[in-house]
Amino acid sequence: MNRPFVKLSSKLQSITNIKYQRHHHVTIDGISASHYHSSSDTFRLGKIILPLLMFSVLLYLIPYIRIDKSSYDPNGINNDQLINIKRPNLSNGQQQPCDKPVSNIFFLKTHKCASSAIQRIFLKYGYLNQKLFALPASGNYLGHPEPFDRSFLSEPFYGKYNIFAVHTRFNLGQVAAVMPPSTLYITILRNPLFLYESMFGYWNLTKFYHLPRNFLDLPAIPIEQLQRVRWIQKIGANQMFFDLGYEPTQLTSDQIDTILPKLDQIFDLVMIAERFDESLILLKDKLCWSFDDIITFKINARPQRKSLSPLAEERIKMINWADLKLYSYFLTIFDRKVKAYGINRMKSDLAQLRSREALWYSECVYNETISWGKSTSSVVKFINRKPSNLTCVLLTATELEVINFIRRKQRKFHPGSVRRW
Ligand SMILES: *[C@@H]1O[C@H](CO)[C@@H](O)[C@H](O)[C@H]1NC(C)=O
Ligand SMILES: *[C@@H]1O[C@H](CO)[C@@H](O)[C@H](O)[C@H]1NC(C)=O
Ligand SMILES: *[C@@H]1O[C@H](CO)[C@@H](O)[C@H](O)[C@H]1NC(C)=O
Ligand SMILES: *[C@@H]1O[C@H](CO)[C@@H](O)[C@H](O)[C@H]1NC(C)=O
Repeated sequence: MNRPFVKLSSKLQSITNIKYQRHHHVTIDGISASHYHSSSDTFRLGKIILPLLMFSVLLYLIPYIRIDKSSYDPNGINNDQLINIKRPNLSNGQQQPCDKPVSNIFFLKTHKCASSAIQRIFLKYGYLNQKLFALPASGNYLGHPEPFDRSFLSEPFYGKYNIFAVHTRFNLGQVAAVMPPSTLYITILRNPLFLYESMFGYWNLTKFYHLPRNFLDLPAIPIEQLQRVRWIQKIGANQMFFDLGYEPTQLTSDQIDTILPKLDQIFDLVMIAERFDESLILLKDKLCWSFDDIITFKINARPQRKSLSPLAEERIKMINWADLKLYSYFLTIFDRKVKAYGINRMKSDLAQLRSREALWYSECVYNETISWGKSTSSVVKFINRKPSNLTCVLLTATELEVINFIRRKQRKFHPGSVRRW
């Protein structure tokens, strides 16, 4: 793949960040530049004005610079590095009690796959157990649409990060370069039918594509455009494959057939959003954690989903054909894992999980509020009943609040582990 371009784009990203975060600094330079103008200090003038000029030109150009995705190798994720990644031998489906909790985790946070609720488990566990997080300088993305690159993180801490659970675009070689060898790779998938619908509502994509709201039921739809064009180059058809680092428009069916077993080898657990609670139990087993460790709140007051016409369903499947293959492949594996875990064991674990969940919910949540944000879908917030209880805070605050909180603490206790920009 095109490494220099990724580097450049990450550099450009730093520059945009400077624009927003260090505006103050730049302005001060600007003032001092005009100050020295009268003292005929041409050397200083060249040293300050010229770089400032070049800087402005760059800023102006940023919107026009795109990441060259055509040169991104759809087979870029290769298994070769995997040979050197030692995998821990964990109990999987066996009845024996586990002895050592896993705390090195990479979680690929797929878009609109209930991944925020799973991410919350890792954020809470990592914070309460003093684990080191891989975090961006600001916000909640480490790359995307550019694939993850180790340069997004702080070099002295490569191999020391315990938990990587923020949004990124998967790139195994680069992830493995920053995570310890014993890291478990985890992700979650969702039925593309529901994912696509939810994505359209959340980002109001009908507006982005200039389509009427009922476009899926009209005689003709712009399939090629829907598959090729992504909102802010991030969000669109076959989103799960895109998040996994591939370029879905360049994938053939045969390629996918070889990619799927590779992904199965890379990921120790692929959860399924429609089977959320069972996913949590398999996660608990894989990580050797307690029930309280895997508590996360889902929204009770979920608004009703409109039902899709058979034609609309067919079309969503057609548009997201690659994700559909991905999903059904891993759904089969998931079913196998649940069977291996034991049907009765699963049943009794689910009951325990739900009772612990209800307990924590009544301890921590006073109420839920639904605000109808900029798009057609809702943003739910939990109102914390016990703001003085750290676990309750970690369970109920918004994703950005929790990440900002963790980042502040981590900068204090592990200076340099989070880049400045
Ligand atoms: C992993 O564990 C299983 C059962 O616990 C055992 O049969 C197998 O030999 C182990 N594999 C390695 C590589 O240690
Ligand atoms: C979404 O886009 C449509 C135009 O397609 C617009 O009429 C509507 O107001 C938008 N909805 C929201 C919540 O912004
Ligand atoms: C909880 O929130 C809902 C809607 O946000 C509101 O109608 C209801 O009165 C609230 N309940 C309490 C006990 O505050
Ligand atoms: C937070 O609340 C839980 C449940 O009531 C309790 O077990 C825990 O000790 C509390 N933690 C703190 C730090 O107060």
